[in-house]
Amino acid sequence: MQKIILTGDRPTGRLHVGHYVGSLKERVRLQNSGQFDQIFIMIADAQALTDNAHNPQKVRDNILEVALDYLSCGIDPQKSTIFIQSQVAELTELMFYYMNLVTVARVGRNPTVKSEIKMRDFKTSIPLGFFVYPVSQAADITAFRATAVPVGEDQLPMLEQCREIVHSFNATYGDTLVEPQVILPQNKACLRLPGTDGKAKMSKSLGNCIYLSDDEETVRKKVMSMFTDPNHLRVEDPGQVEGNPVFAYLAAFSRPEHFAQFWPEYKDLDELKAHYQRGGLGDVKIKKFLNQVLQAELAPIRARRAHWQARLPEVYEILKQGTQQARAVAAQTLHDVRAAMKINYFEDK
Ligand code: TRP
Repeated sequence: MQKIILTGDRPTGRLHVGHYVGSLKERVRLQNSGQFDQIFIMIADAQALTDNAHNPQKVRDNILEVALDYLSCGIDPQKSTIFIQSQVAELTELMFYYMNLVTVARVGRNPTVKSEIKMRDFKTSIPLGFFVYPVSQAADITAFRATAVPVGEDQLPMLEQCREIVHSFNATYGDTLVEPQVILPQNKACLRLPGTDGKAKMSKSLGNCIYLSDDEETVRKKVMSMFTDPNHLRVEDPGQVEGNPVFAYLAAFSRPEHFAQFWPEYKDLDELKAHYQRGGLGDVKIKKFLNQVLQAELAPIRARRAHWQARLPEVYEILKQGTQQARAVAAQTLHDVRAAMKINYFEDK
């Protein structure tokens, strides 16, 4: 069986360093591992519209931003197919058939759907399209016969629901769909990067994100004003690393090479942590180090962004061709699905 990746993001804003360590970096690693036969990266504009129906311009503008974020992180259009969800109509038809295999109660129990409904304060006015987006996501994944889906931790319930749909479909209509495995980042610190203010998650509305497209000075300012341990008032006080976002970022980004290069007094993060916990180490020094680490990681990303930013017609062409390729693959799956469901009337002699 072929090894195939499908994954994607909603184009509702520029991608930030939480997206990067939580999933983008892993996708690039998998892409370059040479272990996959096909890789599809989808800009999920149709899914973005499920809670932005009245703001299509925002979704439209962010398609290009997300495409630039992908290319600047090292997604290589020679190795990966980048495409736009809404332009692959086959996905919608698949979803319509899968919806018959899922109950309202089951979607209502999906933890990600539940928490997103709360976050958006929908109360009793949940758009139906939003409510059923886990089924749409199952269509995205199965249309490409994906065996692996590299995503952030928050997407686990989506994958679980997708696998249930695959089982149900195959049990009802015969073996047709492929069951996907989720791939999470290997470093646990990368699973959920807190905001620069220490809140659990980076979110545009909270203004606590460091974006991949931020310039050097913006990143520095954001790092230097990060929340730390509020009880660490004097340098000599013992500091706390738990719940301290500066240490969460260091755990996600720093490697022993960074210490060797920028701060050779410490061998690695454990040594730095120990000193902070003992007391005698000020926050400003640590933030300066974090800034150096982040700048080292972001500099090549920034350079590639500038490259593609100067070639927007090429980016447009990459999306157009990727979408054409994706459509052909999804059409084949839809053909097989219709045959399995016995709704291929005009083909059936
Ligand atoms: N829900 C994902 C997000 O919010 C985007 C997405 C849509 C996706 N369809 C997908 C991710 C299929 C993986 C597989 O970012």
